[in-house]
Amino acid sequence: MSVLNYQERIPNNVDLSNDLSLQRALEHWQPKFKNWWQEMGPEGFQSADVYLRTAISVDSAGWASYGKVKMPEYRWGIFLNDKVKDRKIHFGDNIGQPVWQQVPGDYRSILRRLIVTQGDTEPASVEQQRLLGKTCPSLFDLRNLFQVNVEEGRHLWAMVYLLHAYFGRDGREEAEGLLERYSGDQDNPRILGTFNEPITDWVSFFMFTYFTDRDGKYQLKSLAESSFDPLARTCQFMLTEEAHHMQVGETGITRMVQKSLDTMKKLNTDSIEAIRNAGAIDLQTLQKYINFWFSSSLDLFGSEISSNAATSFANGLKGRPDEARYDDNSEKDSIFKLEGIVDNKIIDQEVPTRNAMNEITRQAYVKDCEIGLKRWNRLINKAGYDITLNLPSTRFRRNIGMWANINTDPNGKIISKDDMNNNINDWLPSNGDKEFINSLMVQVTDPDKTASWIASPIRGINNLGIDYKYVDIVQ
Ligand SMILES: [Fe+2]
Ligand SMILES: [Fe+2]
Repeated sequence: MSVLNYQERIPNNVDLSNDLSLQRALEHWQPKFKNWWQEMGPEGFQSADVYLRTAISVDSAGWASYGKVKMPEYRWGIFLNDKVKDRKIHFGDNIGQPVWQQVPGDYRSILRRLIVTQGDTEPASVEQQRLLGKTCPSLFDLRNLFQVNVEEGRHLWAMVYLLHAYFGRDGREEAEGLLERYSGDQDNPRILGTFNEPITDWVSFFMFTYFTDRDGKYQLKSLAESSFDPLARTCQFMLTEEAHHMQVGETGITRMVQKSLDTMKKLNTDSIEAIRNAGAIDLQTLQKYINFWFSSSLDLFGSEISSNAATSFANGLKGRPDEARYDDNSEKDSIFKLEGIVDNKIIDQEVPTRNAMNEITRQAYVKDCEIGLKRWNRLINKAGYDITLNLPSTRFRRNIGMWANINTDPNGKIISKDDMNNNINDWLPSNGDKEFINSLMVQVTDPDKTASWIASPIRGINNLGIDYKYVDIVQ
């Protein structure tokens, strides 16, 4: 088991104290990170005591400790899963060769780009969510928001460590850049589209943690297969934390659905107006938010057919999630079938499997997304209502890949631009919907209470009650 050195300024299990120049470089970056956290992190809660978990080892039996801490004093550390002895490359062209402990010269720039792109998403989401504390539906939810935020901060540390340790001066410059771009900024935005979308309400927050953090899971799973061993090991550990982020999303959406159903039952009506007047969110509006965040997150996987993805796979840099479950881990001559579009007509096509890696990963992601939908529909069904929540077609509202800018309805049927414009307010949150949602966003800080639009949580954190004071707010 790796021993964590907690006495050091930067908690780590990578033996930082034996590499003085690396330690110095990271200690130089640390105050810049802290400045960024103060300026771009959760606004108005920097001196609050928050009940948080902190990673303290990679031991699966007890990797985290829980306790109240002020967020700027959170112990952001660097943790890599333990080395697997004699680990070998297990996909692409070099199967059977030893994995790399250093970056091979030929793959330097492509690996750096993969790490920077992943790293950029971590601070981006903290920036997107920085104002949400002011409208938290409960202290329990406020704590979960901050838990996600501090861990995204740690994920940034994970990527910055790799840049500093393995990419020399270029890496140090990229690490600075990660604190310079800003979500939604006109001149210097974050790299990926979804991470520039504003998250100004909690419905979007729960959708983001369900759909977009799940994209994160699939990216991390792909990188956890990497032949560059330090990258694989750091991503394996990040996945441990990521699971909680998606759980926040799933339980958050479940609680909104539950509240909607409880309200329908109580009022004995499914009238949208009546549900809204009672301070709950109708299922039709939740469907629109699902449509928005799911379609946005699909773009994060990149083009269906991609020579970059083929190169990353062939070279062993980025695999498929759970590579071990495939019989063929080389896919040198195999073919993958997918649909395409020519002259506005949908066709079946075959491409080399390696070129379809983005699509293969996206399909695994879509399947994973469906699990929550099934659960919510069971709830709706059990309550006796004939309404179904659906994932829209993967063709709907895409901005990247072969479906980019093709007008389809949520079922994937190709339609005219006029039809798209005429119906868009039925498919995506309209200004009126957003106004309504914003009207619900009122801060609740009494530990016994939860906002009107979401059911109370079923269980608390780490065996504490749901009415525990998870955040001590300093006025
Ligand atoms: Fe993350
Ligand atoms: Fe996350």
